Amino acid sequence: MTPASPTLSLPSASPGLAVRLQAGLADVDALLRAVVDHEDPFIAEASVHLADAGGKRFRPMLTLLAAELGSGINDDVVAAATGVELTHLASLYHDDVMDEADLRRGVVSANAAYGNSNAILVGDLLFGKASELVAGLGAEAVKIQAQTFVRLCSGQIRDARPAPEGVDPIDYYLGVLADKTGVLIATAARYGAMFGGCPPETVDIMRRYGERLGIAFQLADDLLDVTSVPGESGKTPGTDLREGVATLPMLLVRQSIDPADDRLKELLGSDYDLHDDALHAEALGLLQAHPAMGQARERTNNVARETQELLAPLAIGLPAESPARDALLALLALVESIANRAG
Ligand code: IPE
Ligand code: IPE
Ligand code: MG
Ligand code: MG
Ligand code: MG
Repeated sequence: MTPASPTLSLPSASPGLAVRLQAGLADVDALLRAVVDHEDPFIAEASVHLADAGGKRFRPMLTLLAAELGSGINDDVVAAATGVELTHLASLYHDDVMDEADLRRGVVSANAAYGNSNAILVGDLLFGKASELVAGLGAEAVKIQAQTFVRLCSGQIRDARPAPEGVDPIDYYLGVLADKTGVLIATAARYGAMFGGCPPETVDIMRRYGERLGIAFQLADDLLDVTSVPGESGKTPGTDLREGVATLPMLLVRQSIDPADDRLKELLGSDYDLHDDALHAEALGLLQAHPAMGQARERTNNVARETQELLAPLAIGLPAESPARDALLALLALVESIANRAG
């Protein structure tokens, strides 16, 4: 059975725009399924595993929306949006190996279902499929895709490593977020504007907006990892803590000189293995109740507001009433609502 197309989670889009976006997302879904199909039944099943499970389709929706700032959705826009979702999917297969995750999009993760080697190789295969698809869009698109994947991988490599000597850990972390998450969301927005026939200035605004939006998106995801309850996000809460990925609230706790934070700082230190369930539960409880969560939420909302400001120059080239611009602003409200729900 083929599951229904993913539904659009952008409540404030105007009715006409919502219909076009929904149709565009259905086209993306159909192309995605056609592209990942394989003659070998095991490879076909493993390749479609996470696509089948759904996901928010945030990145392809952004590509479609950015195209709406210009002449609208066309076949190239749909192919670009699909290439971006395929790249995202490939990175999720790899990320779940890195993070030893067992749940993704509410289903068993690919590494847990098929083993680490298969998850890595299917991720590579999906990336290859993305490259093949993007090759149909011309050399510039391929170059952007390649540069995007290089930055994404460098962010993922640095995600698992401490800040180098002399580098502020929060600055380092924000740089990692720009690379591991921001760049692909930037490319999603940039492709949409490019293939929707927008002028170069708009393409550049969308690229910068997408990168900042991606940082806000990852900050919100990191908060949700601390606060969500099982079943809410389709992932296992507390994974960052368990795997030693130091996200913003943890970095803020580490900076604290308050003796009341000594136990949590100790648990966050390298002497403890938070794969131990009791220690993990203790650390998660202390972190959830810590004021650093509020500070991290505020910082996330500030980044979301800065992102919103990046859209201001669009007003010059667009009619006063622009449903697409309004929807781009609404995307930020979506990110803020995730951050505010978190905690
Ligand atoms: C998950 O991305 C990886 C992050 C960058 C946080 P999404 O939150 O967009 O995951 P899906 O596509 O909805 O599953
Ligand atoms: C991963 O960040 C970002 C990428 C997939 C590049 P996370 O490790 O926080 O993503 P989730 O929470 O597993 O989706
Ligand atoms: Mg992860
Ligand atoms: Mg990760
Ligand atoms: Mg996460």
